[in-house]
Amino acid sequence: MSFVIEYENLVKIFKGTPPVTALDNVNLKIPKGSIHGLFGPNGAGKSTLIAILMGLTLPTRGVARVLGHDVLRESLEIRRKVGLLPEGFEFYDDMTALENLKYTA
Ligand SMILES: Nc1ncnc2c1ncn2[C@@H]1O[C@H](COP(=O)(O)OP(=O)(O)OP(=O)(O)O)[C@@H](O)[C@H]1O
Ligand SMILES: [Mg+2]
Repeated sequence: MSFVIEYENLVKIFKGTPPVTALDNVNLKIPKGSIHGLFGPNGAGKSTLIAILMGLTLPTRGVARVLGHDVLRESLEIRRKVGLLPEGFEFYDDMTALENLKYTA
C-alpha cells in the first residue's frame, strides 16, 4: 500500500439555504510513513476533510480512502484501525485513565 490517505475529486456541499461548498474538488495523497499538517483559515474545510475520513460526515461526490479502505463502504474497518483525537476533547475527571479509555471506546 503506497498511500495511507487518498482523496480523489472530493466534494462536500452542506445542504441549506444557501448551500455551503466546504470542499471543492480536493485531490490529496499522503504516503505511508510521512507526517502531514493541514493548515488553513477558519472555515477552510479542515475539520470536514478529517470527518469524512472517519465516516462522521459523507462526501457529496468523489472518493476518499484510508489504508486502502473506501470511507463509504468500509467505515467500520477504518474505525478499527485509526485513532482520532478531535479538537475539544475532554477527560472525565472522576474516572481513571483506563476508565476514560474504556468509556470512550
Ligand atoms: N454541519 C455543517 N452544516 C453546514 N455547514 C457546515 C457544517 N460544518 C461545516 N460547515 C461549513 O463548511 C465550511 C468548512 O468548515 P470546517 O469546519 O470544515 O472548516 P475548518 O477549516 O475546520 O475551520 P476551523 O479552523 O474554524 O476549525 C465552513 O464554511 C463551515 O461553515
Ligand atoms: Mg475545524
